[in-house]
Amino acid sequence: MSFFMALFYDKVMRHTEEACLIEWRRILLENVDGKVLEIGAGTGASLDLYPQKTSLTLYLSEPDQHMRMQLEQKLHSQSSIEATVLSCSADHIEAEDDFFDYVFVSLVCCSVKDVAASLQEIKRVLKPTGRFIFLEHVAAEPGSSCYHWQQRLNFIWRRVADNCHLNRTTEQSIIDAGFVIEEIKYEKMRKMIAVVQPTIRGIASIAPE
Ligand SMILES: C[S@@+](CC[C@H](N)C(=O)[O-])C[C@H]1O[C@@H](n2cnc3c(N)ncnc32)[C@H](O)[C@@H]1O
Repeated sequence: MSFFMALFYDKVMRHTEEACLIEWRRILLENVDGKVLEIGAGTGASLDLYPQKTSLTLYLSEPDQHMRMQLEQKLHSQSSIEATVLSCSADHIEAEDDFFDYVFVSLVCCSVKDVAASLQEIKRVLKPTGRFIFLEHVAAEPGSSCYHWQQRLNFIWRRVADNCHLNRTTEQSIIDAGFVIEEIKYEKMRKMIAVVQPTIRGIASIAPE
């Protein structure tokens, strides 16, 4: 992401955050505890929504240097939470196997280079009892006008929006990676252009072998 995109990211997202994302993040994160990893933490939109518990140890990974700079600034100047910042990518997470109690992603699976490899890494670093929490914008219902426009605009959107795909079927990718979806909600992101509105959010666990 360019320096300027990272600098203005929060301003661009502000209305959407206020209209729905803050509330969705808060509910998704309200019960996290233990060792928690947020992947692609961006500018730190979720920082103040983590429960303030001494038993929670937070790790934030952000591979993009400009987003990471915003994240570190927010962490040190605006937030009361403590966290360790990592620079690793979702497909090469700097952690031992079975390390985290929770892994959280929001608006990240749309942008990673390799969704399947990233989900395998998430599975690797999660404890067998761990939970994967996701909030992602996804492909609309096939056959809908939104789906049609997502397919048409995807090529250009990826180029202007830092590899963000409009048409990923992330729920299926999560299942294909060997997770069981325990909770899922389908809702439109408010105050957002139509092709980015369809979202899924929920919690998955590792499928028993
Ligand atoms: C749309 S932003 C979302 C940021 C943040 N999660 C949020 O909800 O505001 C997408 C983020 O995913 C990060 N990202 C892209 N590819 C990634 C990868 N392979 N591994 C981890 N993060 C990645 C980007 O650097 C960017 O910060």
